[in-house]
Amino acid sequence: MKNMNHLHLLAALGLIASMMTFSANSASLEDASHFANGKAKYQTLCIVCHGDKGLGDGPTAASLPHKPANIPNKLGQLFTTKNSLVDDILKGDIEEGMPAWQGVITRQDALDILTYIESIQ
Ligand code: HEC
Repeated sequence: MKNMNHLHLLAALGLIASMMTFSANSASLEDASHFANGKAKYQTLCIVCHGDKGLGDGPTAASLPHKPANIPNKLGQLFTTKNSLVDDILKGDIEEGMPAWQGVITRQDALDILTYIESIQ
């Protein structure tokens, strides 16, 4: 009987361990899908102006009246958060040449784009 209890305990520990592995895997699957989404949206909508790594040096940058922002620099600024940059992205700054993305992409898309940019520096 004593041995049986040990077996039950081992089985329970095994189950807990596999549940923990499962939730770790699903978290990284979710990260991967945010990364893929950020990358796809960035490359389709933003790269022409902001460049490969978001430094503000895309192929159209030279012909714009204002230089596109260096996004990693913005991310590193004191008092600037991802959330405040998401607001700026959705609102745009049309006079300065930054399109408003509200209605084209979601907040989550903008957040995924920022996370993507951050991760490729
Ligand atoms: C037509 C060119 C163009 C495209 C396309 C473009 N941007 Fe911009 N972006 C700019 C310019 C120019 C600025 C600088 C505006 C300024 O100086 O106020 C800017 C500024 C920014 C800033 C800084 C905002 C701030 O308030 O500091 C962020 C972040 C940004 N863009 C992200 C994006 C993202 C994300 C996309 C794609 C969804 C995108 N941009 C697409 C031209 C562009």
